[in-house]
Amino acid sequence: MHLRGYEAIYFNIRQNMFARAGRCNDGSKVVTLRDITTEFPDFGLTEAQRREAVFGHRFERPGIGGDRGEIWGYTDSLSYPPGAMVRLCVNTTAERYRFAVLRDCASARTVLEQEVCGTRWQDTPDQCSVLGCGWEPSVEFRIGKGWPSGAYRITLTAEGRDGGELRAHHLFIVRPTAGPKPGRILQVAATGSWTAYNTWGGSNHYQGITGPKCNQYATSVSLERPWCRGFVVLPDNAPRVPLEFALPPGASPRYPHLEWAFANGYSNKYASAGWASYDRHFFHWAERSGYAVDLASQHELHCDPDILDGYACVVFVGHDEYWTWEMRDAVDRYVERGGRAARFAGNFMWQTRLERDGKTQVCYKYRARAEDPVYASADPSRTTGSWEASEIGRPGAMTFGLNATNGLYAGWGLCAPRGVRGFPVYRPEHWAFADTGLCYGDLLGADGHAFGYEVDGLDYVVRGGLPEPSGTSGAPPGLQILALGLSSLKEEPLNVPLDDRFLSDDDAKFVAEIRIGDASDAAVNQVKRGAGMIVNFGRGRGEVFHAGSCEWVAGLLRRDPLVERVTQNVLTRYLKRR
Ligand SMILES: [Fe+2]
Repeated sequence: MHLRGYEAIYFNIRQNMFARAGRCNDGSKVVTLRDITTEFPDFGLTEAQRREAVFGHRFERPGIGGDRGEIWGYTDSLSYPPGAMVRLCVNTTAERYRFAVLRDCASARTVLEQEVCGTRWQDTPDQCSVLGCGWEPSVEFRIGKGWPSGAYRITLTAEGRDGGELRAHHLFIVRPTAGPKPGRILQVAATGSWTAYNTWGGSNHYQGITGPKCNQYATSVSLERPWCRGFVVLPDNAPRVPLEFALPPGASPRYPHLEWAFANGYSNKYASAGWASYDRHFFHWAERSGYAVDLASQHELHCDPDILDGYACVVFVGHDEYWTWEMRDAVDRYVERGGRAARFAGNFMWQTRLERDGKTQVCYKYRARAEDPVYASADPSRTTGSWEASEIGRPGAMTFGLNATNGLYAGWGLCAPRGVRGFPVYRPEHWAFADTGLCYGDLLGADGHAFGYEVDGLDYVVRGGLPEPSGTSGAPPGLQILALGLSSLKEEPLNVPLDDRFLSDDDAKFVAEIRIGDASDAAVNQVKRGAGMIVNFGRGRGEVFHAGSCEWVAGLLRRDPLVERVTQNVLTRYLKRR
C-alpha cells in the first residue's frame, strides 16, 4: 500500500502500535485507550490494609529483616568519573556477601562480580535519614576506564539465617569526562527528587520521624543511606501513578500504586521518584533508538557546571522537582551560550540547598517561612521554598518556561481523574510536531498516557483559539504554548469524604499563600485550576523545549508512536551542531 505525506506516517504509526500490542521491549504491558475498564485492580488487601497503604507511614530501617537477617548498601558518592574508586558501605547480618555491578542500559551487562568475607553488623543512628548511616566502607573497587557513562546497578546478595537469599540493590552513576561530545546527548538524572522521596530510614521531604513527636518530614536528608525498595529495580507490573481504569463519577478515589506497594513490600514512593520509574525509561529508549547518551547527576550541575558545555543537547526527564539555585544557573548559562535544553519532565517546584559537601539536601518546603534561617536573613533568595515565592522571586518559568504552581496534579486521586491522558494540541504546525499528522485539538500521548501525574504550566489567556502566556507567570519573551491540558491543585468534588482523599487541598492552600498571600477559600479558588503544557522558546543563542509532564517517559516506555516522534524531532533538531 502506498500512502503519501502524513497519511503514510500515521498509517505506519498505527500499524506499529498494533504490531506492538501486548508487550513492550522491556516486557511491560502496552496500555492503550481500548484497555481502560472500570474494574479496579485487586491486590488482595482488606479495607483496613488499603487505608493503611494510602495513609500509613512505612519505611525500611535496620532490623526489619527480623530473624531472617538483612543486607543493605550504599556508595560514598552519587556519581563518579571513570577510573575513580568506589567505596561500598554494606551492612549485613551475614558473614559474607556477593555483589555484582551491572550497567543498566538497553544491552545490560555485568561489569564486576566479587565476594566479600568478614562482614559484621554495624549500628545505625535512629535519625539516619537525616544524619546518614555512617557505616564503614566494606569494600572498594575501581571504575574501569572503559566503563561508559551511565547508571550502574549494584546487586547485593547474602545468605539469610533461614538459609534463604537476602538481596538488596543500589545504584551509582558514572559521569562523562569533560570535553566535546559531538552527536551525544547528556541526560541529567533527577537525583534531587530521588533524594527527597527516598523513604529509607524513616524520613524524607514528605513524611518522617523527626521533630519533637517524631512525626515530621525531614528538612534535611542525607545521601549516605540506601535507596528505598523500588528506586533501583521494579517488576514490569508495578503500577504507575496515573489511573489506568475509569473511576466512576462520585466514587471515592483509589491509589493503585500505593496499594500495590503495600501488597508487595515496596516503598510507598516507588512510583513518585527514582531511576526505575522515570530516568531509566528515557535512557533505555534513547539507546534502543540509536542515540548516544551520557548520564550525569544533578550534583554535576551544581558543582561542575562546565560538564554541559561539550553537548549540543541536554535532557531532563521524569519527576524533576528539586533544584538548587546553582543548578539553574548552570542551565541558564548553557542555554544563553547556545545550548539546547529538552525537558520532558514535570513538577519544577522547590529550591534546595546542598550542605556537607553535597551529602545533605536541605528543603524546608511548607515550613520554609517559619523555620528556614535563610528566610530571615539579609538575602532570603536561597530560602528553600517554592521558586514562585516572593522572597525567592525566580519562577521556574524563567529557566524552563513553566511553573509547578501553575500546573500540578492530573489523572490520579480526584484531580482530573477522567481527564485527558495526552496533551491537547494547539499549534500543530510547530516543528516539534512534524511528521506526526497531529491536528488542532488532537491529543498527543493519550495512548501512552503521557500526561500526568504532576504537570507544569503557566497562567494563560486564549485568543482566537490559541493559548498565550498571560504575562504574570514569568514566562520568557517569545514563548509559544504548543499544547495544553487541564490539571488541578485540589481533590474535588467535595462530597467525597475528606478522609478518603490522599491529596486533599493542602497544596492548593500553600500555592494560594505563595501566589495570592493568603490561604482563604477565595484565594484557593483563584489558584486551584492548573494546566500542563508543552512550550518552546529561545534564549540568547540557545533554545528550550519543555513537555511539562512527569509521565512523558511513560509514553516512551509504552512506545506511544506520537510521543516517540515528537521526542525524536526535538533531539534531532537539538543535536545538530551549534
Ligand atoms: Fe512532585
